[in-house]
Amino acid sequence: LKNDHRAIPVQADRMLADLQTIRQFGACGNGVVRRAYSDLDIASRVWLARRMEEAGLEVSVDAMGNVFGIPPGDGPCLLLGSHTDTQPEGGWLDGVYGVIVALEVARASIEAGGPRIACVSFQDEEGSFTPSTGSRVWTGSLTQEVADTLVDDAGTPLAVARQKRGALPVAREVSPSLFSGFVEMHIEQGPVLDRTGEKIGVVDSIVGIRGQRVTFTGEQNHAGTTPMQMRRDAFQGMVRFVTVLNDRFKDVVGPTTVWTIGQANVHPNATSIVPGKVDFWVQWRDGDDALLDRMHEIIDASAADIAAEMQLTCEISSYSKIAPTLCFPAYIAAMSEAAEARAPGRWRVMPSGALHDAANVSVHMPMGMMFVPSINGISHNFDEDTAIPDLEIGLEVFAEAIARIAAG
Ligand code: GLV
Ligand code: MN
Ligand code: MN
Repeated sequence: LKNDHRAIPVQADRMLADLQTIRQFGACGNGVVRRAYSDLDIASRVWLARRMEEAGLEVSVDAMGNVFGIPPGDGPCLLLGSHTDTQPEGGWLDGVYGVIVALEVARASIEAGGPRIACVSFQDEEGSFTPSTGSRVWTGSLTQEVADTLVDDAGTPLAVARQKRGALPVAREVSPSLFSGFVEMHIEQGPVLDRTGEKIGVVDSIVGIRGQRVTFTGEQNHAGTTPMQMRRDAFQGMVRFVTVLNDRFKDVVGPTTVWTIGQANVHPNATSIVPGKVDFWVQWRDGDDALLDRMHEIIDASAADIAAEMQLTCEISSYSKIAPTLCFPAYIAAMSEAAEARAPGRWRVMPSGALHDAANVSVHMPMGMMFVPSINGISHNFDEDTAIPDLEIGLEVFAEAIARIAAG
């Protein structure tokens, strides 16, 4: 087995059939809505757990709802996987492609008497509570106690949300010490592979991601009678803040730095009321932690400056931070060899601009990641897609890389 890199004979048809089945949980046009802990999410986890059992894996679902399938036998083994929850408007492949590929590799390896391979679907990677909640709690970077106090957009605390388990088995914890390493397959979610026509991205690093909530408070008043110079309009404060921020970032950021205000609430959100309050989430990402610190200082200073200038008060809350992460060199090498064997000259080593559960898991064990192309680089959108042949090539290259890694 040791030198047989075809030791895990995966079946693309079976992987694609599973992918189409789980897609039905929350299908919405070409995309999927399957938010963490929704009825559809729980039902999809029950289905996934049954598929794992049918493959000969022993299922454990921990208190967060992370679903693990563990192969028979003893000793540390490789863990493969990703997440099956989606964004509020999610694609059909983000996360779940990596989970179903992991299931197929684990299943094929049991059938062929290959290396022991475990698989997992982490819970709430898409951040209903905070980015990658399930893998953060599993790896201990966030305690269950603190996580339980987080609330989703409906105001439900995680402590309540995670009690909903439907037909999932009674919670059982799974120690990270059962595993020798973690490898995650994912769609790229960006334009690089699509533009170059390459088939595989071997990931060498995952960006750091920071975020915080900013609240500007002014004075709510009548939109017809309040003279412009007397207003303390919180929404105008936000607009000014964004303009100032873009300007101040210009000479600080690098070519791959990104920042986003993707969620904002205007209070009370009525056409004839001068908004008295606005709160919004600022998120910024880069591979350089020191640059992220510098951006943080600029964000805080800009918010304070705008508040003073516009007679608003400013509050900053809910800070969240995940550090940039490097992939394990031996995994990068094994994946590169597998990619060159199966897609010669049509692959590259590249960083990930998206966050992944792998970043959290890397604290405990060697970690690697592989990408397949995303059509037009679209993701976090119902239109997200990948050509079927590319999903198949991805499975083949990934299975070979896993065989190489497992063979040491
Ligand atoms: C994860 O989906 C991210 O936002 O990068
Ligand atoms: Mn994802
Ligand atoms: Mn995502």
